[in-house]
Amino acid sequence: MTEASSPILLFDSGVGGLTVLAELRKLLPDAPVIYAADEAGLPYGTKSEAQIAARVAGLLGRMSERYRPRLACIACNTASTIALGMVREVLEIPIVGTVPAIKPAASMTRTGTIGLLGTEATIRQAYVDNLEAEFGNGSRLLRHAAPGLVETAEAKLRGELVDSSSIDAAVAGLRDMEGGEQIDTVVLACTHFPLLEHELGEVFGPDVRFVHGAEGIARRIAFLTQGQDFARDCPDFAVTTGALEAFEPLRAAFAAHGINELQAFQSF
Ligand code: DGL
Repeated sequence: MTEASSPILLFDSGVGGLTVLAELRKLLPDAPVIYAADEAGLPYGTKSEAQIAARVAGLLGRMSERYRPRLACIACNTASTIALGMVREVLEIPIVGTVPAIKPAASMTRTGTIGLLGTEATIRQAYVDNLEAEFGNGSRLLRHAAPGLVETAEAKLRGELVDSSSIDAAVAGLRDMEGGEQIDTVVLACTHFPLLEHELGEVFGPDVRFVHGAEGIARRIAFLTQGQDFARDCPDFAVTTGALEAFEPLRAAFAAHGINELQAFQSF
């Protein structure tokens, strides 16, 4: 039987998973959560498949041994599209992944042209090709890698000014593709990007709608933990694989999601 204090482990390369935590809090406010940020490995999007798979599987294995979560969520599209299967094979707990929200986008678009912003590693995955083939419903899917947005989102949550050139570059990257002017729906296929939805919306204009997976992931976690008891025996906390000093400027962002303690995770 699952112990009531056993946490849900939310894992991302950085703060992108907070977009998932925000939705999870609405559904399961009493669930103990440990947020794990692999800031030493950030960004994942520019790494190879082998590097990401080894890193994510290794870290989640060690974190599961240490924290004994009831469920782990890979709150990162890059890691999920590459390593979800492998992590599921090595861990015995339920693993919830994050995959590009192509299915809902296909039901929302009226022009039939969908834009997708992700990391370089995500947009080249066969996983995305398969989602497009299975759920794209004949829509045209234009993919653009916007790695600059990952650092911009991290900086925003550290309380720094948003670098508008990275937002402009991401929007132009999609708009300048053949047929890009037809885009009316944009899949934010990186958990960092909803943190910049407002800024992206200002540049795309009012006719473009955004879709991402956070709500669906939270619903999946709630479904998989249905009937389980939740009780905290310690306050929720966040761990970083990087330096604790570098994590400190994110304190307010974590506090806004009910996490007031930051720790270093010594893994290697
Ligand atoms: N948040 C991650 C995602 O959803 C990626 C950010 C990174 O490049 O590390 O893809």
